[in-house]
Amino acid sequence: MNDKTRYEIMRNRELLKGYQAADAGAEATDQQQGFPSVPCLQKRKGTETVSLPVEFERLSFQGTIMDLLRERESRRKYGEASLSLLELSFLLMSTQGIRHYAGRRNPVTFRYVPSAGSRHGFETYLFVSHVEGLRQAVYHYLPESHELELWDDRPDFQDELSDALCGQRFAASAPVLFAWACVPYRMEWRYGLKAAKYLLMDAGHVCENLYLACEAIGCGTCAIGAYDQERMDELLGFAPGPSADQDYICTVYAAPVGKRGAEG
Ligand SMILES: Cc1cc2nc3c(=O)[nH]c(=O)nc-3n(C[C@H](O)[C@H](O)[C@H](O)COP(=O)(O)O)c2cc1C
Repeated sequence: MNDKTRYEIMRNRELLKGYQAADAGAEATDQQQGFPSVPCLQKRKGTETVSLPVEFERLSFQGTIMDLLRERESRRKYGEASLSLLELSFLLMSTQGIRHYAGRRNPVTFRYVPSAGSRHGFETYLFVSHVEGLRQAVYHYLPESHELELWDDRPDFQDELSDALCGQRFAASAPVLFAWACVPYRMEWRYGLKAAKYLLMDAGHVCENLYLACEAIGCGTCAIGAYDQERMDELLGFAPGPSADQDYICTVYAAPVGKRGAEG
């Protein structure tokens, strides 16, 4: 290992510790300095929106929590069938849906997943190939109204998406690919230099809920950490980093979803 790699490894390890080393001599966080927080929800951009159904009692749930934990695995083969809009709606609710709100000066959302300080630093984007009631396009989830907004009206994303996912064609051609992007400042406002650690921990909660929710409704998913940062960000229309701007957003994680086929 050369000196440069050794130095980078050391810096990455400091991220794992979160605050002990990084906080020595760090300035007070923006919250401690009295700056107002930024909203944990991104404003609607598009004009075309789709309401998501919420009659989840119509879904046939499979297994006890013990069954779901035992059977959960990364699934990379999906059946031919499309996902229904109700199934997709359930998966969005399970991963980023809002249960209630709190706070006046610095409002926060409480969701189906935990998040450090309830800062919820993520936005969900969907590359939709086969979902009943949706055309092939890229959508953005609006948790507040539980709607999708059309983000990029392009049906032909699969080749570029596959390249951006380092050639993982099974993920690019799945009925739907969840791509989670993070807005780091939401977390940094409260936690300063600890924010990166908490954001990555939070991403794990979101994806684990997707795994379990998929298992419960006869779908399958697979966490995707291998992707090309620049290509994914470009596909979603995000400005390239590095950046310390408050509105900076970048992809952090992805997961394809499809119905479980004969083998799955
Ligand atoms: C952070 C993370 C990143 C991952 N990235 C990929 C990936 O890019 N491609 C893939 O096929 N599987 C990926 N996986 C799935 C793992 O390979 C899988 O979880 C592991 O082999 C254990 O199998 P299991 O999930 O079936 O228990 C990832 C899993 C995690 C948690």
